[in-house]
Amino acid sequence: MSSAGVTILNPVPRELLLSSNGYHTPLHLTGQDELSVNVKELNGTEDYDVSENNCRRERDVSKEEEGREDAAIEPSVPRKALDRDLLEPVIVNKKIELASEVWNMINMTYEGLNSGNYPIRSAEGTGGAYFMLDSTGQNYVSVFKPIDEEPMAVNNPRGLPFSADGEGLKKGTRVGQGAFREVAAYILDHPMSGHRSLFGDQKGFAGVPPTVMVKCLHEGFNHPGELTTKLGSLQMFMENNGSCEDMGPGAFPVKEVHKITVLDMRLANADRHAGNILIGKEEENGQAVLIPIDHGYCLPTSFEDCTFEWLYWPQARQPYSPEIIDYIRSLNADEDIALLKFHGWNLPVECARTLQISTMLLKKGVERGMTPFGIGSLMCRESLNKESVIEGIVKAALDSVLPGTSEETFLDAVSEIMDQHLDEILS
Ligand SMILES: Nc1ncnc2c1ncn2[C@@H]1O[C@H](COP(=O)(O)OP(=O)(O)OP(=O)(O)O)[C@@H](O)[C@H]1O
Ligand SMILES: [Mg+2]
Repeated sequence: MSSAGVTILNPVPRELLLSSNGYHTPLHLTGQDELSVNVKELNGTEDYDVSENNCRRERDVSKEEEGREDAAIEPSVPRKALDRDLLEPVIVNKKIELASEVWNMINMTYEGLNSGNYPIRSAEGTGGAYFMLDSTGQNYVSVFKPIDEEPMAVNNPRGLPFSADGEGLKKGTRVGQGAFREVAAYILDHPMSGHRSLFGDQKGFAGVPPTVMVKCLHEGFNHPGELTTKLGSLQMFMENNGSCEDMGPGAFPVKEVHKITVLDMRLANADRHAGNILIGKEEENGQAVLIPIDHGYCLPTSFEDCTFEWLYWPQARQPYSPEIIDYIRSLNADEDIALLKFHGWNLPVECARTLQISTMLLKKGVERGMTPFGIGSLMCRESLNKESVIEGIVKAALDSVLPGTSEETFLDAVSEIMDQHLDEILS
């Protein structure tokens, strides 16, 4: 796709172009030849392998699911016979069975489109985000964010300029990868009870709404050229009373703020502004529930653009509860990387590194009794031109190892330098 001689890469992973819905049929992307597939960039270096041999994880998700083929064959919610050109989930690994609530969302969205209801473009946000209606046309069911309408992508409806070098709006991200990051945030939002299951419907600890990769064809999307099937994230629509932009943080329960802090620090979220936290309501007691959305800029390759709105909220200065500390202790970046790989996203090595380092910092921080503010402020720049502490640690670790050092040795160096920094700060 080009404009003014500039080629924009829409890096769609090869697997997604080759198989969908586990049936190994091609994605019929009309105008597919216009998509420049940059598999290597999206999947990381080809020899980066999260296999048993070089991965320190304690659980091997791929093995764990081997005996569960039956569950994959018989979904708990019957699949609709979808007109696959209209809407279809994109599932890279056929062993993965979508949770029933995800199927419900897909089916209802499909019914809405099939009944002739047009997607409604959100007035907010910098990319194309569409509210998808149910069959009655009265209720929003989901939000679709196509990759070609992301900020700085070729069909962005808000007239943002093209990215000349493919870099996304935030440092360390790529145009066209937002939807994968949205899905990754959902997958990695493990429930309080443990690792996210590939089959369960359990709500994640931070409450990232269920999100899945889909392809969808509709004339209601932004198509300056010919009508094409769009790849993007489909996220469950969450009822809300606005976002944290609309009210001061005083009324938010501490636990609600803390769950967002954990998510953002783990994923080194570069887009946590107040508009990206919706305010819902607990059914039983009417208390405010914070709903994190818009994770298209999480897991960047560098920490440069990390920003956390909650850093200046009073709740962030309160210590984590023992329950949350236990949750943080249970996190394992190796497992997370393996889980994403199982779902079809072989995390680029630099993004995997970010996840490793941010998880490491979070764990070391809580072991030292630090608050979300204490840890979070090490990840964010105080001013535009002043590197954050975490950036300094990464740099020092890079300087301390020989070129060609293994990732494991590099991470050991990060760990050592991080310990020194934390001990210094706390003394
Ligand atoms: N799951 C959801 N449930 C309800 N509303 C949502 C959901 N996701 C997005 N929205 C609404 O759509 C708007 C745009 O979505 P989103 O923030 O994801 O888009 P964006 O273009 O990436 O925004 P940004 O400018 O923050 O990068 C949100 O501000 C919110 O009002
Ligand atoms: Mg937003």
